Parts: sequence; C-alpha cells; structure tokens
Amino acid sequence: MLHRLLTVKILLVAAVCFIAVAAASLVWQGSTGLLVVVAVGQVAVLLLLGLLGRRQAAHDRRRVRDMERTWKLLAQIRTEQSEASRDIRRAVESVSKSVVTLDKRQREKALERHRVVITAVREHKPRFDRITEVVKSVATVTAENRRRLSKLVQEQSGVEAALRRAGRNQYSQVESLINLYRDLDPPFAFPPLAGWAASPDLLRYLYELVCTEKRESVVECGSGVTTLVMAYAMRKQGEGRVVALEHLAEYAAETTTLLERHGLGDWATVLHAPLVEVKIEDEIWPWYDPAKIPEGPFDLVVVDGPPAAVGEQSRYPAVPLLRDRLASDAVIVLDDYRREQEREVGRMWQESDPEWTASRLVHEKGTLELRTKAPE
Ligand SMILES: C[S@@+](CC[C@H](N)C(=O)[O-])C[C@H]1O[C@@H](n2cnc3c(N)ncnc32)[C@H](O)[C@@H]1O
Repeated sequence: MLHRLLTVKILLVAAVCFIAVAAASLVWQGSTGLLVVVAVGQVAVLLLLGLLGRRQAAHDRRRVRDMERTWKLLAQIRTEQSEASRDIRRAVESVSKSVVTLDKRQREKALERHRVVITAVREHKPRFDRITEVVKSVATVTAENRRRLSKLVQEQSGVEAALRRAGRNQYSQVESLINLYRDLDPPFAFPPLAGWAASPDLLRYLYELVCTEKRESVVECGSGVTTLVMAYAMRKQGEGRVVALEHLAEYAAETTTLLERHGLGDWATVLHAPLVEVKIEDEIWPWYDPAKIPEGPFDLVVVDGPPAAVGEQSRYPAVPLLRDRLASDAVIVLDDYRREQEREVGRMWQESDPEWTASRLVHEKGTLELRTKAPE
C-alpha cells in the first residue's frame, strides 16, 4: 500500500516537472522547444519507469524471500507436527498396552484375594455364627440383668421405705405401750399385743378417748385387751360400763378372767353372743345375736369382730344393727382399717350416712373413726 502511494507521488512529481519544463520551453523557444520537451519527457518517462521497475523488482525479491522463509517454516512445522503426532501415538499405544497388562494382573490378584477371603469366610462361618449367637445371648443377658437390676433397685428402695416406716411404727408402739403402762399402772402385764389383740397405739387412743370425752356407754364387737383397757378408763373416771360381744365361749371366759384378775369386773362385761344369721335389707349376714345386746344408747362402739374368717365384710352389720341404739354424738371405731375388707365396710357405712364425720387414724393396723355428730 505504502509502495503504491510512493509510486503515485513520484509519477505526480514527474508529471508536474515535465509540464513545467514543457511550459518553459514553449515560452522561451517556440515549436523547436516542443520537440525538446517531448524528448525530455520520453527520457524522463523512461528514467521513471526504470526507477519504478527497479523498486518493484527489489520489492518483489523481498516478498519472494519472505514467502520462501515462510514456506520453509511451514514445512518445518509440518514435519515437527507429524513427528510429534507419531510420538504421541506411540506413547498412547504403549500406555494403553501397559494399562491393559496392569489391569489384567491386578484383576487376577484381586480375584485370587477374593477366592482366599471367600474360602476363609466359608471355613470360619460356623465360628462366626457361634460368636454372633454368643454376642446376641450376651446382649440379651445384659438387658435382662439390667432389667433385674433396676427392679432390684426399685425393690430395695421399697424395702428401705418399708423399713423406715417399720422403724417409726416400732417407736410409736413402744411409746404408746410405755404410756399405757404408766397411765393404767396394771398389777399384771397385758397379754401379748398386736397379734390377735389390738396394737398399743389403738389401745392408748381408746383409753384417751374414753377419759377425755367421758364416754360412759361402750359396746364392743370382739373381746380382749381392748375390753380391759377401756374398763381401766371407766374405773379412772368413776362411771360408765363396757359391754363386749364375744362369739366364742372360750374367749368370753378368758376375757372375763382377765378383767377379774385386774379387778375390773364391775366396769366391763363380756357377753357370750354366738353368731346367728341376721337380715339386713334382704341380705343374710352372720353376726352376734342381737337379742343379747343391751338397748343402749351407746356413745362408743368399737368394732374388732367377728373375725374375717366368718365371711367377707363380716364387721359390716355392726352399724346397721346398732344404729338405733347409738347416742346422738356417738363415736364408731373400726380396727384393721388397713385391710381391704375393712375399708369396704367403712365405705358402706359412710355411704349409709354421709352426714357422719370420718377420720382415718395413722395406727399400726389402721383405724377408722366415725362420729355421728361433728366435734364442736
Ligand atoms: C381381732 S381379735 C380382737 C380382740 C380385742 N378387740 C382386742 O383387741 O384385744 C378378735 C377376736 O379375738 C379372739 N380372742 C379374744 N381373746 C383371745 C385370746 N386371749 N387369744 C386369742 N384370741 C382371742 C376373740 O374371738 C375375738 O373376737
């Protein structure tokens, strides 16, 4: 492009020079001058063409040289490229060959190892199974032992609580017994307590109840030490009487002897009242013969018989059959209230007269106290 522009410029400069020379010749020399001008112009054109030709040739030579160099370079690149491709092909072939070889060897090794493992597993399977069984049974035993242990811990805390309660109860019984001996000051020891007889806490409660509330007319279901203790209370307050109902002649005689031995025959009577069938709301119950019971009114009823062996809720008839013989402010005391049967008896009594006041006393065997008139 540059080369072409230069050529055009040179031609323009030459043309301008030629026109200038021609114009000068015409002005100065006339028609002769024209011939000179044409000749000069031809020479100038030839010179110019020669000049341009040389320049063009030099330029073309340079281009040819460049092209040759480029060609050589391309050939070299092509050669190098084909050599490189050949090398790469060879490398790829050798790599894939070695990969195939390597894979095959590894596969064989892995297969061998697999066969060894499978054989070993087969050989040891019975042992594994036994171990699994042992592990399972150990786990079961451990879980079972854990259950047993927690049950034992529970039981132990239950036993500890029961022991604490028993300890407190023992102390309370000893305290009641000491106080009872001090208050009554008996010439003979009492029969063994808390077995067939009432416990010291109930005996002391009865003694206090009679003395503090001046209970004077007592009827008792089931004779024994309670009869003796309440007879002591009557003698202390100087008035009143205890009537004890006893279904067995043997124990009626025994309690009578006990009273006489303590010099209390005037304060308590044991009535031998064999059990008979009594009717309460169309139901038959075995109970002390009502014909033998005094008219009352009784301000204290102690229910400690007939024994459970006679029948379920054997103590129930006491309230329905003695209700008409109760004083207006009577107290009914039911022993063994910890037992299910006595709780049922107490519930039936309270249902029969919801106006009565009920208190559960924390005694060794449990006591229910019912008052026909609420205490003021
Ligand atoms: C639960 S016990 C209670 C007797 C009485 N309330 C007491 O606490 O001593 C009831 C029955 O024991 C019987 N009993 C009375 N004296 C007895 C004695 N010395 N030995 C064995 N049992 C006797 C009588 O049959 C009585 O009805």
